[in-house]
Amino acid sequence: MSEAKRLAGEKAIDYVEDGMIVGVGTGSTVAFFIDALGRIKHRIAGAVSSSEQSTERLRGHGIEVIDLNNSGPLALYVDGADECDPNKCLIKGGGAALTREKIIAEASAKFVCIVDPAKRVDVLGKFPLPVEVIPMARSLVAREILAHTGGQPVWREGVVTDNGNWVLDVHGLKIVDPVAMERELNQIPGVVSVGLFARRRADVVIVGGEPPLVL
Ligand code: 5RP
Repeated sequence: MSEAKRLAGEKAIDYVEDGMIVGVGTGSTVAFFIDALGRIKHRIAGAVSSSEQSTERLRGHGIEVIDLNNSGPLALYVDGADECDPNKCLIKGGGAALTREKIIAEASAKFVCIVDPAKRVDVLGKFPLPVEVIPMARSLVAREILAHTGGQPVWREGVVTDNGNWVLDVHGLKIVDPVAMERELNQIPGVVSVGLFARRRADVVIVGGEPPLVL
């Protein structure tokens, strides 16, 4: 599986153009992308990072990490996913970086998603849906999610996001209308962000393999 992740991460370099500030996601697939980016770092102006984890890896390669407030809109964002449906809607947040990932995806003209073949599904929801919540709202949000969706929220105990918040993982969902569910869950007070990337979904999906599949 990690070979497929490497092939997907390295293929995404095709989308990097000279002088770009590149939006960079989080996770083990993205780690391969960052390593490949390190090999062409002289060609780029820097990166905007979605997590402390990715920032550390980028800096380890000598790539400058730039604040999104100073970069302006980005041409390219590269990130992984936990699930990807045929419409390029995604579940993300397995690494608890969903909020910053969502912000950078929104700021980017093109979102290239890099996955291994196991991430492809017909219907999203087998992977528990991550929801970042303000800590004091954890129980409230869990009750509301249960009432709205029938899914079972489980607190990812011990995990604190880079933003100081907590994560609920919602089990047992079958997400037939990802845009509607994203919109509905976003309305619950205390929800910081929902790990459904449907309104702003991927533009391109690269599935790692020999050769990689570009969707
Ligand atoms: C982190 C994410 C990751 O992109 C997702 O969890 C996939 O990770 P990996 O590439 O390690 O399988 O959303 O919040």
